[in-house]
Amino acid sequence: MCDYELALEGEILHHAYDRIDNSMYQAENDQWWQPDSALFLLKTFINPVRVGYFAKKLFNGLNIDPHGSTALEVGCGGGIFCEEIARMGFDTTGIDPFAQSLQIAIKHAETSGLEINYKQGTGEALPFRDSSCDVVFCCDVLEHVRDLPKVISEISRVLKPGGVFCYDTINRTWISKLIAINIAQRWGWWAFMPPDFHIWKMFIKPDEIKLLLQQNNFEWREHRGTAPNVSYPEILYYLHKRAKGELTYKDLSEKLFLIESENLTIIYMGYAIKKQ
Ligand SMILES: C[S@@+](CC[C@H](N)C(=O)[O-])C[C@H]1O[C@@H](n2cnc3c(N)ncnc32)[C@H](O)[C@@H]1O
Repeated sequence: MCDYELALEGEILHHAYDRIDNSMYQAENDQWWQPDSALFLLKTFINPVRVGYFAKKLFNGLNIDPHGSTALEVGCGGGIFCEEIARMGFDTTGIDPFAQSLQIAIKHAETSGLEINYKQGTGEALPFRDSSCDVVFCCDVLEHVRDLPKVISEISRVLKPGGVFCYDTINRTWISKLIAINIAQRWGWWAFMPPDFHIWKMFIKPDEIKLLLQQNNFEWREHRGTAPNVSYPEILYYLHKRAKGELTYKDLSEKLFLIESENLTIIYMGYAIKKQ
């Protein structure tokens, strides 16, 4: 039995879920698209690597034609990744549990001149028919959900046979505890996120997600890691300057971003194909 199943058995994860802080997603004002906000780092810090990786796999590796194909983003928030999916040429839908984030996403798509269908819903109960999507994306979301096995089984249900599931998430390692939890959220000298934005026990090991995918009628294909563009001492230097008020989130967003790497120990990406 893998660690994830053991953790579920002990109901540790349900307890952890109750601690997770979703308040940024429920804010009435725009927390997503303001260049000087923490969530905007999804656009500058993470989007370039994940958009590049998924485009390479979908269009060069799997020869998918986005025109006339449907894509769903599960957990789209304010639309930062969903807009990139629409720009790839897919007929795009985004769902999220929080109405406030969806309102921001709808307004922003209008200003971007993009047609995106936004809908309220959760990954655990996707409001779509069986075998109705060509591609499902779930990025920076799997480590936030209450019931991960249910989300994976729902994604498998709505994908067409041969459809592709693309995801990124955070590994549960000592280094992810140090960097994504303690430095990013807890230790005030550097922290730039609320203390319970991510809960370490909800992070997912690559083998756990691989097993869940195989148990849900997927052929798992690949995991690929990420690394920062600068050294860790430089990151700490910039984060401390931000914590002191000498740099803004916008300044950070101009200095730091992720690149593709072999290193799966913190943020990693992957994809799987729904079996025929
Ligand atoms: C860090 S944000 C990522 C947003 C977007 N995917 C991106 O990368 O730009 C996490 C998102 O997961 C959503 N979320 C949390 N629990 C969820 C669930 N059970 N089903 C679907 N989405 C969920 C949150 O509302 C939030 O919008």
